[in-house]
Amino acid sequence: MGPIGVFDSGYGGLTILEEFQRQLPGYDYLYLGDNARTPYGNRSFNVVYEYTLEAVRYLLGSGCPLVILACNTASAKALRSIQQNDLPALAPDSRVLGILRPTVEAVGRITRSGHVGLLGTQGTVQSGSYAIEISKFHPEIQLTSLACPMWVPLVECGEHNSPGADFFVAQYLDRLFAADPQIDTLILGCTHYPLLLPKIRQHTPRGLNIITQGPLVAASLADYLRRHPEIESRCNRGGQTRYLTTEASRKFEEMASVFTRKKISAHQISLI
Ligand code: DGL
Repeated sequence: MGPIGVFDSGYGGLTILEEFQRQLPGYDYLYLGDNARTPYGNRSFNVVYEYTLEAVRYLLGSGCPLVILACNTASAKALRSIQQNDLPALAPDSRVLGILRPTVEAVGRITRSGHVGLLGTQGTVQSGSYAIEISKFHPEIQLTSLACPMWVPLVECGEHNSPGADFFVAQYLDRLFAADPQIDTLILGCTHYPLLLPKIRQHTPRGLNIITQGPLVAASLADYLRRHPEIESRCNRGGQTRYLTTEASRKFEEMASVFTRKKISAHQISLI
């Protein structure tokens, strides 16, 4: 028995965790943010894989029967290798899931034009993982992807509501819609981007479907737990969440308020 592990490179996964807590409040969660080594978005494949594996190992070692990689970059670059190569040796009865699949599944139900845009970190876009998953599930969809390397720093610096943010929000969106003006559905494929949603709406056509991941991923987790009683029965049901960070806990507690309305008390750990 143990909590559901939720991993992110830093704070962004809190936007996903918040939806887990809202849709599935009965479970215990153990959140781990690798704040000391964030961001992952521009790191190489091997580095993201190594860092993510260390975090997964820690969460499995803490008794989590299920770990969710609530980070697009980690899901895109490390999930497959961890599932196939590491988990069988580490904890064959436990599961590690990512957040790409639930997002991709939803896209097919939402788009009408079949033209979809993806915004994410450099790592997520360059990995091609969204493109691969979309071509598997919805071969008819035409995907246009764009990395937005300025957006995570804007949020991390608390500038996402400032007038200066408009410049970078418009810049990437203009590029994306110039590449494919028929896009009717936009995936915000990065945990930080929901904080930019008001500005993204201002700079995109009316009626555009904008996919934020938290609600989708939480609904998909609920469905997964229903279909997998062997995992669900090992998830603690105390309604409690503990927060771990690889950075100073005070820093995490202060910055977390940008990403979640909850008052958080965190504990610092080391992954190395
Ligand atoms: N959490 C990351 C993601 O969703 C964004 C932050 C980072 O680059 O580490 O891709």
